[in-house]
Amino acid sequence: MSAHWIFGYGSLVWRPGFVFEEAHRAEVQGWVRRFWQGSPDHRGTPEAPGRVATLIADPEGHCVGRAFRLAPEVYAATLAPLDHREKAGFERRTLQVTLADGRSVDALTYLATPSNESFLGEAPLDEMAAHIRRSRGPSGDNAEYLLELARWLSAEGVEDPHVEALAALVAG
Ligand code: SIN
Repeated sequence: MSAHWIFGYGSLVWRPGFVFEEAHRAEVQGWVRRFWQGSPDHRGTPEAPGRVATLIADPEGHCVGRAFRLAPEVYAATLAPLDHREKAGFERRTLQVTLADGRSVDALTYLATPSNESFLGEAPLDEMAAHIRRSRGPSGDNAEYLLELARWLSAEGVEDPHVEALAALVAG
């Protein structure tokens, strides 16, 4: 596998927080982005977790995010703080992603499966939006996480109806 790529679809697209050699818009098949993961440590608290994005398996779906290539010498040192950042329910997976230039690479991806204890799952869109509006944690307002992601997707010309609908409700 190409061990030095990382694929981000949530906060990592707009705030990677690590040094990389190149970054590209990238797409993964068979997964969709959903705000179904609880955040007890970044965009909420253990008592009142926020709602952040994870990838949900969907054979018909796809998700556009951002892939980063890291220099081999910084890769291991980059993963340690990322493991810490993503510790509340996210696990490492390797997904095959297609870069905007057509290359296909294996990329390490942090995703939170429905079996993790912070998983919130689906809720009506207006309830999820209200939840995001009222939540905040050590990393800031939950709305910032959503709206920065929506801004990045829009700047890249990427359509994501789930994120757009939530962002419209939260911003409105
Ligand atoms: C990611 O951005 O790829 C992981 C989830 C997150 O930190 O939002």
